[in-house]
Amino acid sequence: MARDPNRERWPEVYRDSPGIFARFAAAEDRGDRVPKELISLAGLKGARVLELGAGTGRWSASLASASEQWVATEPAEGMLSIGARGAGQAAHWLRARSQALPFHSGSFERVFAGFVFANLRPKDRAPALEEAQRVMASGAELWLLENHWEDDFQDLRRSAGLETHREIAPLVDEFGFEHVSTLDTQMEFESEAAAQEVLGTILGPLVQARLQSHPQRRLRHRVCLLRWRAPAA
Ligand SMILES: C[S@@+](CC[C@H](N)C(=O)[O-])C[C@H]1O[C@@H](n2cnc3c(N)ncnc32)[C@H](O)[C@@H]1O
Repeated sequence: MARDPNRERWPEVYRDSPGIFARFAAAEDRGDRVPKELISLAGLKGARVLELGAGTGRWSASLASASEQWVATEPAEGMLSIGARGAGQAAHWLRARSQALPFHSGSFERVFAGFVFANLRPKDRAPALEEAQRVMASGAELWLLENHWEDDFQDLRRSAGLETHREIAPLVDEFGFEHVSTLDTQMEFESEAAAQEVLGTILGPLVQARLQSHPQRRLRHRVCLLRWRAPAA
């Protein structure tokens, strides 16, 4: 069956166009609200932190130095190579999928994943969560950053007929994550043409056409911070 030409292309971008993803990630959270909130809420000081699906290093770049040790894992080779040699180089980088982590049980006090779990195939979520929980020390915390379901970014997707839904619902309802906070952040591209190129490549031709007819370089992006706590020993 032919693939829908109007579909989001995240996996292809991770594999074939990591530079486009790096430009998307650089546009996110221009005010650094996420790192500020995580540093204040997640107690990273003195912690060994594992990041899952670290991509091109958007978060490790601003968070690694706040921790004792920051280990960034990422399965896509091109993404990892940008992350490891760029701003994320304060972290130690390893190639790994969340379902198979090369660490001993109980190795980390904090685990962090930005925009990873809601995007995993539903059948991969439980194995990835179990594996993250295996490598957590007793009393450790797993923090997720995920898209809110109402903002300009979701409106743009919806305007092109892309399916958007309450992506964090299964994480909260099935896996017991606590929705700790929602942050209002700003996604800001260097120009309207850059927004059209980057978002059009990732989100498909109808988004590209929409940004051509309604140019935009700033989008309100609301993001949710979720937490799961490992039982204390
Ligand atoms: C939306 S990107 C987020 C990247 C980065 N965390 C950020 O916020 O800029 C999702 C990332 O998850 C990675 N990923 C996909 N499948 C994965 C899996 N099974 N385990 C870990 N990471 C995965 C992708 O390669 C990609 O880097």
